[in-house]
Amino acid sequence: MAETFLKNAWYCAGWRDDVGLGQKDLVERRIAGQSLLLYRTAEGALVAMEDRCPHRSAPLSLGRKEGDAVRCMYHGMLFGPDGICRAVPGMAQPPEGARVPAFATCEKDGWIWVWMGKPEDADESLICEAYSPYDPDLNLRANSIRIETNYRQEIANLADLSHISWVHDETFGGTDGWAFIKPRHKRQARGIETRYVVRDIPSPRFTAHMFPKEARFDIQVHVRLTVPCNFIMNFRIHEADGLESGDAQGALLLDTYTSQAVTPRDEGTLDYYFSWGTSTETEFPGVIDLMYRTNFDAFLEDKRILEGQRRRQLEYPDAPQIDIVHDAGPGQMLWVLDKLIAAENPA
Ligand code: FES
Ligand SMILES: [Fe+2]
Repeated sequence: MAETFLKNAWYCAGWRDDVGLGQKDLVERRIAGQSLLLYRTAEGALVAMEDRCPHRSAPLSLGRKEGDAVRCMYHGMLFGPDGICRAVPGMAQPPEGARVPAFATCEKDGWIWVWMGKPEDADESLICEAYSPYDPDLNLRANSIRIETNYRQEIANLADLSHISWVHDETFGGTDGWAFIKPRHKRQARGIETRYVVRDIPSPRFTAHMFPKEARFDIQVHVRLTVPCNFIMNFRIHEADGLESGDAQGALLLDTYTSQAVTPRDEGTLDYYFSWGTSTETEFPGVIDLMYRTNFDAFLEDKRILEGQRRRQLEYPDAPQIDIVHDAGPGQMLWVLDKLIAAENPA
């Protein structure tokens, strides 16, 4: 069977505050089909290892922290942050080869990243560029949700924003303008980059009450999508400039930034870590809260359609699917992903 997940990649395992310093802070994650334990040592260093004791497979996340080590609370084996067994109560020496696979970790832009390939291959330069909630020039609010779908569907969703007109009609939409854009995607080594302007449209639904009905806007969009599925976007709402092409020239009303990381747990479930907000320069009272609530509602809109799509695809696995013009972005992004997966799994 073809491999489903890229191994040599950084997967987001959450926000940095998701893994605390307390003794009970043994965080369970599932990433690309593997169960992981995350914790911080007494010095705050981040540790990731398989969440499975090599004795009788008890989850180590049900264990307890002891300094920089974790103890399995079934028969008491103690493992260091490198996964090597340090002690077995009742034995003078741990048995040969008693160790838990450990994974490379990194913290960047407020996110925790885990490299799912061999730790010695971990390359921090491959972590995507993102907007951080800790950037003093930005005011972003962050959270996460879980979606019961395959991550390829999520990639297709994020690589084709024409769905804003339909899926997000009640939040970001309010116009069919998104459906008439044919964005040019610039292929990158590990993703695609896309810039375009949605021109002369009414206000997005979530701000429509703030403007006269006849007001028109241009929305400047810049998206960087990288594998496995990281979506980094700057979304600027301008007064309409009346031009036909080029960057939006009208007054900048709202300058928004979002970082979204989609981590497949397994074939049918993913964890979605996201932030959204504005530059501090363009922020005004109440706007961060409005954006956060709108964004959360919009993710529930995506969740509803993606989970429904997944159910139907499982019910009709052999049904043909037709292609339309909006499949170009999804096609390119999935092509990049499949090429990288194929490269690490030579026939
Ligand atoms: S299952 Fe962990 S020590 Fe026995
Ligand atoms: Fe969406």
